[in-house]
Parts: sequence; C-alpha cells; structure tokens
Amino acid sequence: MAEHLVEFDSEAKPVTVQTGTLLTEAARQAGIDLSQPCGGQGRCGRCAVKVIGGHVRQRSTLRLSPDDIAQGYALACQAVVEGNVAVHIPPQDTLDRHLTTDRTVAAVTIPAGYDPAKNQPLQRVTLQLTPPSLDDQTDDWSRLQTAIRQETGITDLQVSLPLLSKIGAVLREGEWQVTAVLDSLGNCPSCPARIIDLLPGHAPLDAPLWGAAIDIGTTTVTVWLVDLLSGQVQQQVAEYNRQIRRGEDVISRIIYAGKNNGYVEMRELVLATINDLLHRACQRAKADRYDILRTTITGNSIMMHLLLGIPAGSIRTSPFVTAVNQIPILSAREVGLEIHPEATVDCLPGIASYVGADISAGVLSSGMDDTEKISLFMDIGTNGETVLGSQDWLVTCACSAGPAFEGAGVQHGMRATRGAIEEVWINGDTYEPTYRVIGDGPPRGFCGSGLISILAEMFLTGILDKGGNLNTTIPTNRIRQGAHGWEYVVAWAGGENNGLSATKDIAITHVDVDNLIRAKAAIYAGFTVLADAVGLPLEAVEQVLIGGAFGKYINVEKAVEIGLLPDMPWENFHFLGNTSVLGAYHALLDQKLRDRIKDIASRMTYIELSADNSFFEAFTSALFLPHTDLDRFPSVGKALTVS
Ligand code: FES
Repeated sequence: MAEHLVEFDSEAKPVTVQTGTLLTEAARQAGIDLSQPCGGQGRCGRCAVKVIGGHVRQRSTLRLSPDDIAQGYALACQAVVEGNVAVHIPPQDTLDRHLTTDRTVAAVTIPAGYDPAKNQPLQRVTLQLTPPSLDDQTDDWSRLQTAIRQETGITDLQVSLPLLSKIGAVLREGEWQVTAVLDSLGNCPSCPARIIDLLPGHAPLDAPLWGAAIDIGTTTVTVWLVDLLSGQVQQQVAEYNRQIRRGEDVISRIIYAGKNNGYVEMRELVLATINDLLHRACQRAKADRYDILRTTITGNSIMMHLLLGIPAGSIRTSPFVTAVNQIPILSAREVGLEIHPEATVDCLPGIASYVGADISAGVLSSGMDDTEKISLFMDIGTNGETVLGSQDWLVTCACSAGPAFEGAGVQHGMRATRGAIEEVWINGDTYEPTYRVIGDGPPRGFCGSGLISILAEMFLTGILDKGGNLNTTIPTNRIRQGAHGWEYVVAWAGGENNGLSATKDIAITHVDVDNLIRAKAAIYAGFTVLADAVGLPLEAVEQVLIGGAFGKYINVEKAVEIGLLPDMPWENFHFLGNTSVLGAYHALLDQKLRDRIKDIASRMTYIELSADNSFFEAFTSALFLPHTDLDRFPSVGKALTVS
C-alpha cells in the first residue's frame, strides 16, 4: 500500500502513513492529542483541522459549513489520507483541569453509630506461630491459616500468588512472629476473607489503614481518601475523566473503544486519571499510597466496563445487556491502581446497561430504600437515571437525555468551571440580560444550571414560544441570524456586562434550544413512565431527591418552568450532591451498608424504555415548554398569566 507524508504546523515531526489512514490517527502517531468529543463519529465538529497543502478524502463534512470546506477545513476523524498533506491544527479548547474546589468538596459526616472495630472489614492481627519441626512438617501456608483461624475465627482465606510466594520468607524473617492484614469482606467468620499483606514482626496496631472511595463519572472522577481507623474522609479530590477527549457521552466512548484497540486506550486514560487523583490525595494527607488497602468503586455500567477493559459493545445494541453487573472482588494489581498491589478493589453492583453502580450507591446514600415515603431519585446527567419507590419497592429507568445539560451539544456549552454563566435574568421590557458567572473573569459559555436558567427566562419573557421557537419579531439586536440560524446573544464579545467582558459573542441558538428541550423532555418522560408503570400519579411522590454534582446547583423554580422537574412544592426537592461517591464511602466503611447496596441492586426493577411505547408518547408530550398539558404545571401557568 502506498505511503504518504503528513506534516503538521506544530512542533510535531512529520509522519509517514499508509493510504486510507485517518488524520486523527496520523496526528496521534505524531504525538498530537486531538480532542474527539463525539468519539470520532463526525457529529460534533470539534476535531476540525485545516488542510493547507495536498488533499484528503472527506467521508463526512457534517458540521462544516460550505465556507469552512472552501477554506480547506476538514473533520480529522473523517478525513482519509490519500497523498502527501500539510495540516494546520487550530487552537483547541483545553480543559480547565482542576475543578473549582468549592464545587467538589462536600461536608461529610461519619455514618451514625459507626464503630471502626465492628463495621469496617479490614483488620491487622499479630500472630505468634509455632516453628515447624521434624515432628510437625505442616506447610507454611497451612500453618499461617491455622494461626489466623485461631486468632480471628476466619476459616476461608484467599491469597494471591505473589503473596503466597513470599509467605515462607516473611515467616522466617520474623522468626515466626508476623502481622497479617486481612479483609474479611463479609464480616462474618464463615465468609471468605482475603489476606492483603504479611509483615515480619509485630507491626503497631495503630499504623495507618487507608481506604479510597472512587466515583468514575462520565465527566468527572472523584476520589475520597478515608482514614479507616477513624472513618473520616481526609481528602476529596476530583478531576475531569481523561476519556472525555475520546467522547463526551457514554455511547461515543463505546464507539471509540470499539475501534483501533480503543479499549486499551480508554482503560489507560481512566486509570491515569484515578492514579493521579490517588497520588494527589495521598500527598495532601501525607499518606503513603501503599497504605491504601481497600477501595470501593462506583460509576455507570459503561465506565465500569471501560475501567476493567471489558468490551461494552453489547450495551448499545438490542437487547442492551452488559457483560457484567456484579463484578467479583479484584485486587489493585489486577485493576491497575497504584496503591498496595493486594488492596481489595470492590466494584459496586450495577442494575442494567444504563443504570449502574452509581445509582445503586446513590439510592443507598439518598436513604429512599429505607423510608415509607414515596420518593423519586434522579441523576440529571447524560443518562438521566431515575428511580421511583420506597422501602418496599423500587423501579428504575434511564432516559438517555444526552449531554446537553452537561454543556455538550450546545454551541457555547461548558462544564461548571470558571467562566461559566450559571444564572441568567432577562428584562421583560428591554430583553436585556444580566447574568452571574462562576469565579472571576469574563463569561466563556453556559454550564447546565445556566442553560436551564436561560431557557426559562427566554420562555417567560416571550423570546421563546411554547414550541421552543424564537420570536424574531421582538425589537432587539440580541435576536439575530447567526452561523447556525436564529440565536439570542447573552454576552457580546468585548462588551461590558456585569462589569465583565466576553472574548466572543455568547449566544443560544435555536439548535441549542431544540437539544435542551429534547433533553428535558426525556428526563420528564422518564419519571412519568415510571409512575405510570406502578399506577401512581406523579402527585403521589412525597419527595424528589436529586443526586449528581450538577443537581446541587439547579434553580428549582426555573427547572419547573421549563418542565424539567415536576411542579410540586419546593420543600419537596432535596439536593444531595454526589450521592454516588457518598454511597461508595459508606460501602467502604461498613460491610452492612455494602450489603444493602447489593440488596438495592438486586431488588430494583428495571424498565427498558426503548421497548416501551408509552415513553415515546410521554416524550412527545413533553417536547414543549413546559409541557403540552399545562395543567401539569399550575405554577408555571400562573407565572405566564402574570407576566
Ligand atoms: S466530529 Fe470528529 S471527533 Fe467529533
């Protein structure tokens, strides 16, 4: 096959590739990390590069305007090399790596009645063994097991090969006095336990015992470093999941992972994120990462599969099944975590393809499985997982809301970091907006709460009608024709607003409005279908529990105004923050709580919406602001009459 030279206008060296190689692959070989938020499907347009010499064959030019194409722009994920080419890489949006601290650190209290000696499954025991003799030729491993059984009552002990191979040396080095670190997992004498470490001599029993609760979000990975002797969370750190550059939503990631050995790359990316966070947390706590002996991990089903390098293709095709929902106990060595290699890695159980361990852990920390109150638990994110129920029953579904409320698929969408517009108010007479921006500095885009806010304000001031159409007859220069059709400009480039100036015009386009309405309609339809499935009116719901870091900042009034949340008294809404990592923390500390998560996962009834006609009907009815049936939103009806 013919070979061609690809040159980049950066410091990267030219590379030689074969005919048919994608520009993204050529860039990768040259050491250039091109962002591919849609997983290389040609949908997002964010991998656009400019071909300044030679020619490429473009499989798809969706997302490029005729003008872009005339100027030589091509989507790198869709452009195939067929001759020598020179490529200009425009500056890419770089991620603001460190998340705003006050948005990620939660106040955490130790579970009531927590007693580390009784609840947490790690224990350090000192042992005095009788040395072997010609009269007692018992093997070293059996001798150690007997000593452990006599000291702790544990009868079934698992050991890894690397640890087994060093037991003889440790016993002799310690002259038959040793300290064993055990993880009793089930916290009962007959449950299988793991031996995590064996040290010569008698180690101090108050030596540190660290644990880590890890939540792998599609967008953000969170790690809590926990002192298992006290139960206290000592450090909380969070970082964007580095897989984002290979797809912003889970489907894009599965697609990317299925190509070019992508599973290896995806696994490496998330492991690099987690390991960096573990290093950072240990550094801050002055802890040795090899003293982390136990971890619990949550995340949606796709994130769990990608962490372990398990193919996830079956999740996105009918009948939508995972490879595994209940992952067996693993060691840090097997998973690739840079902590004590024998540390227990407990991946919490998921329920189905699109309702994962983050939801079973979230339900535990919300407490909805332990109350008579009928509760609606929801995670407003890409998958839009929703759970309805009480202590007696639980039903769940995921409504594929898409990543619009996380800022993806919206022209000026961004995550909730510095520069994000998080709240907007529009003057109903002048149509002039004011807004609040996270942190200092000029506005750069809208985060989820800003998008909810702008949609509600545009609707209430008549800029948008019930169907989400822009009223182009309103006399304001903020409503204009942009590159993608009609739009409303919130911040002018260079213009002063709120004492801050934007570097570019920040607008909401009619395409953005469509995407947001579809996302909110999917979420609302999800909980109406759940309520219908159990024959309950939505009014029967006594509390709405909202999980996910994003949920914490939603303005309830505005979310109800656009029909994202059901219309009910505000005091019924409770924002819980990151319920997933909180559930992982509880499972880390207390085996009984861990067992409760397993119970939640096994008794939750999953409703697959793609096979449910009523979902499509509910979704179509919700594709309006706030809904086709205004009687469902009496408070919004009242606000519209007043305004
Ligand atoms: S269009 Fe190429 S990565 Fe999305």
